[in-house]
Amino acid sequence: MPRKPLPKDKFFRTLNASRLAVTFNDVRLRTNYSEVMPHEVSLETRFSRNIPLKIPFVSAPMDTVTESRMAIAIAECGGLGIIHRNLTPDEQKDEVTRVKYHLGGLIKKPICVNERQTIEQILNMRSEKRFTFHTFPVLDSEGKLVGIITETDFDFCIDKSQTAKKIMTQKVTIAKKGTDLKGAYKTMCEHKKRSLPLVDEKGMIAGLYVLSDVRRILTGSSKDFNLDKNGRLIVGAAVGVYDDALARLEKLDRLVDVIVIDASHADTKSVVETLKQIKKDYPSIDVVAGNISVGSSAVRLLKAGADGIKIGQGGGSICITSPIAGTGRPQVTAVYDCSLKCDVYKTPLCSDGGIVYSGDVTKAIGAGAWSVMVGNVLAGTEETPGEKIFGDGRQWKIYRGMGSLGAMKKKGSMDRYDQDPNRPLIAQGTEGLIPFKGTVKEVLTQYVGGLRVGMGQIGAKDILTLRERADFDLVTNAGNTESHPHEVTTTKEPPNYRFRGQK
Ligand code: XMP
Repeated sequence: MPRKPLPKDKFFRTLNASRLAVTFNDVRLRTNYSEVMPHEVSLETRFSRNIPLKIPFVSAPMDTVTESRMAIAIAECGGLGIIHRNLTPDEQKDEVTRVKYHLGGLIKKPICVNERQTIEQILNMRSEKRFTFHTFPVLDSEGKLVGIITETDFDFCIDKSQTAKKIMTQKVTIAKKGTDLKGAYKTMCEHKKRSLPLVDEKGMIAGLYVLSDVRRILTGSSKDFNLDKNGRLIVGAAVGVYDDALARLEKLDRLVDVIVIDASHADTKSVVETLKQIKKDYPSIDVVAGNISVGSSAVRLLKAGADGIKIGQGGGSICITSPIAGTGRPQVTAVYDCSLKCDVYKTPLCSDGGIVYSGDVTKAIGAGAWSVMVGNVLAGTEETPGEKIFGDGRQWKIYRGMGSLGAMKKKGSMDRYDQDPNRPLIAQGTEGLIPFKGTVKEVLTQYVGGLRVGMGQIGAKDILTLRERADFDLVTNAGNTESHPHEVTTTKEPPNYRFRGQK
């Protein structure tokens, strides 16, 4: 059964009759009667069937955008980061682990040490894995909890060759497996403890609570964070097809919240077969498949069991697929077309690539997306991988396509673009510099603010209503010129606006 008719259908049907496809700069959303103030708008949505978002922003699995620092920062803003796959399965697992262990609502599988390990060994492991916490339950060789080491123990340990058993606190305040957040908080307050291990009836470690995080959750100061049911940040990871996907899933199972099958063209036998395999082997993990740009491709992925679909072929800021391959589809039409199918399957779709202004986010959602994936918008922020570079009197960071020659030196990118390591590489992306932009929070505050203004003017109190009320006009060149500053020399650049193409 097709989905219910919406105001925008006529606009797209008319264009489609002449085989005209449109992207962000071709269209403008019509304003509507509104009783909605921007600050009242709810931005809650979903990336996939079971993965919630408090704001509709997801960071792209690109090696100059999303590792653990980005994933932590965006999840703390209410969004989601997808860890890229130009990493070995072990390295990717470490990145995901850093995000999951950044906050400690209930840490179900805490990182523990053995009583025979030396303090030097433990500190080395901590810095190798780039863990930011200092509390480790200590186990005996059978896995029973025998003590705990905290920051104070490390600080006052002068001889680092001593074993954990020697310096650990042996009298540990514990609670039973299954203790809830409030119960844990009460026990921690009563005993003045900053951490609380949980043990099962055999004395085996069964979880860990950390005071600062428990308090933060209970007092509501993390209300903007995108958290799982155990109070930990939600995070995703990108995988390839066949063996690559299965090798990564083996490491990521029970750790990661959502998997993205990351292909430049996902309407292929390899993606469909991999998707079916993952859904069969790991039925409880949400799997998002992409990228595609045509409704019939969406149907194939939906039938194969996708929990979310990613739309975008040719629109990315670093993408050269359209000029070199002649393929791809303007993004607004691609999103609309695929949404017709995804809505029937009640499956969320994410618009990936091409977002320049915050208004583009409003347009993507208006056209039918439930969220947007961004690379360029977040590239150049403090939390992206890589050092800042100084030049031309300002700071820059590198941003490159995963199909660029630089990125394709690594296997993950080479596979994403179906390249054979024994033949010359065919680039599908560029490499460049982005001016340093400050923090993810600063950038997203502006994008979220712009989206709220747009929703207020359309009279959309939430994402669902925006999808349902949106209607578009086609914009001429003159209309586009008019919509940007003109007949004036800009002397002060607003924080949320740059002339397109200007950096
Ligand atoms: P933006 O516009 O946010 O787009 O920079 C990010 C999205 O672009 C895709 N991507 C690429 N597409 N060649 C491409 O054709 C590439 O090298 C490339 N690298 C990334 C990807 O979907 C990403 O989320």
